[in-house]
Amino acid sequence: LSSLVVAVDGTSGSGKSSTCRAVAERLGLRYLDTGAMYRAVAWWMLQHDVNIYDIQEVTAHADGPRLESGTDPRRPTITLDGVDVSAEIRSDAVNAAVSPVSTVPAVRARLVEQQREIIGDGGIVVEGRDIGSVVWPAAGLKVFLTADPDARAARRAAEAGTTDVTATQESLLNRDRIDSGRAVAPLTMADGAVHIDTTELTLEEVVDVVVGLATAPA
Ligand code: C5P
Repeated sequence: LSSLVVAVDGTSGSGKSSTCRAVAERLGLRYLDTGAMYRAVAWWMLQHDVNIYDIQEVTAHADGPRLESGTDPRRPTITLDGVDVSAEIRSDAVNAAVSPVSTVPAVRARLVEQQREIIGDGGIVVEGRDIGSVVWPAAGLKVFLTADPDARAARRAAEAGTTDVTATQESLLNRDRIDSGRAVAPLTMADGAVHIDTTELTLEEVVDVVVGLATAPA
């Protein structure tokens, strides 16, 4: 397990973060939330008045902030130029900006390089949209998580403490649409990935399935 890479991709709100953190804790592995990295870049662009729909402008600022991701599953952190922005990156403004920013090749190139450095010799659970397909195709275990839009919106709204499930659903379906339709590294199920539909499963059940797959003899 010490060199295992578990790649977990899937749609927004399918339970990736909770699942990955619990799996990493159970197996004593590190944890990397690549979505938080894209969110941090998007937040930085909003702060610096970058027009996020202008590919050239976003490209020109792609190397802007110094970004660091903590890999402790009990306390994942993300810092920009040394400042913890873990809370800021969950705002509605970032929810709306992150997928457009994530379509820009220069942003992806920069973050994928950093993600590969962090993965290094493995021993890590990595969540995102393109981990099994682009970032680490050699991952020992690839999982693809999905769930019905209603279930995803209800979970996300509960996490965010909002009662507006309709707006939450629109926001995550909009991200899915952009993430699946983009030219570079679109959200797709990687070759060899195990598909788990989490709609009817509890978090514990999903975690058990993934831990079972990770520890099963090859
Ligand atoms: O995982 P999370 O919902 O926080 O990801 C936010 C957004 O970041 C996604 O909707 C997607 O646009 C982008 N993303 C990506 N590639 C990844 C992880 C996230 O493009 N590996």
